[in-house]
Amino acid sequence: MHDYTNTTAVVTGASKGLGEAYARDLASRGAHLVLVARSADALHTLAGQIRKTHSVRVDVIAADLSDRRSPQAVVNTIEELGLNVDLLVNNAGMGSVGPFLGRPLEPNFQSVDVNVTALIGLVHLLGAGMVERGRGGIINVASTAAFQPMPYQASYAATKAFVLSFTEALAEEVRSTGVRVMAAHPGATATGFFDRTTASMDPKATDTPVDVAARTLDDFARGRSISFPGRASNRAGVWASRLFPRTTVARVTGHLNRKAGLDDVSDLDPATS
Ligand SMILES: NC(=O)c1ccc[n+]([C@@H]2O[C@H](COP(=O)([O-])OP(=O)(O)OC[C@H]3O[C@@H](n4cnc5c(N)ncnc54)[C@H](OP(=O)(O)O)[C@@H]3O)[C@@H](O)[C@H]2O)c1
Repeated sequence: MHDYTNTTAVVTGASKGLGEAYARDLASRGAHLVLVARSADALHTLAGQIRKTHSVRVDVIAADLSDRRSPQAVVNTIEELGLNVDLLVNNAGMGSVGPFLGRPLEPNFQSVDVNVTALIGLVHLLGAGMVERGRGGIINVASTAAFQPMPYQASYAATKAFVLSFTEALAEEVRSTGVRVMAAHPGATATGFFDRTTASMDPKATDTPVDVAARTLDDFARGRSISFPGRASNRAGVWASRLFPRTTVARVTGHLNRKAGLDDVSDLDPATS
């Protein structure tokens, strides 16, 4: 069983949602933290709260992970702080929602930049040191969206399919190095993921970030290479999608997303949302 006590964990996207839950849970398990996201104020507030309740070191690095130079900048700061990273939780992520051709292009690029480019950048830069030290762990937060094409979340699901494939391949490459790599696949989770759009999640079908974070960290501690930290039906959906032709799966997913109104999404005015 992996012990988080006195390890140093980097959590990206720690300013809210799942990342905040990962940070709080890791601190309660005795891990020191490096919190990364754009919202410096939110990170400092969280860091202050964690320091008050847990005897762990918490550092904050404000970074825009959609900037291709940011993984190197984050790692430079970690080195300046004199830290060795034992666990990387690649959680930061975002995605465009709505019909691909009817929505702005830029958020799709940002989604690839944050969910894919920054993720592999941080894995490359921090993973090398872990292998050199013969120990360490990486948790890449993908999604149940990784397992099938998702009309109205087309590029987002594709980024998560990348994370799934990349993580499984890397886990095998480093299998005998002392470094463990795990993908986590939450289903719908009650966070601000759809904030600033008219899209919403059905509260009855969502898990809480606190539960998802706890199950992810338990699974990693147990040595799993894959984690489905949400409700059991998420996993059943993933298996079902493997049984049918991909065109059928895309049709069904498109139907479900239309029922959820994702074919008719617009952005909320930032001033009022
Ligand atoms: N919620 C779900 O239903 C669900 C389901 C499966 C998987 N996931 C995955 O879980 C992860 C966390 O999502 P969430 O639901 O917690 O969403 P969220 O509440 O919107 O939080 C997203 C986090 O990512 C950070 N982030 C976004 N863009 C960034 C950028 N350019 N640079 C640095 N940080 C950035 C945000 O921080 P700043 O805005 O401060 O930068 C925030 O901390 C994502 O990878 C998501 O794909 C979510």
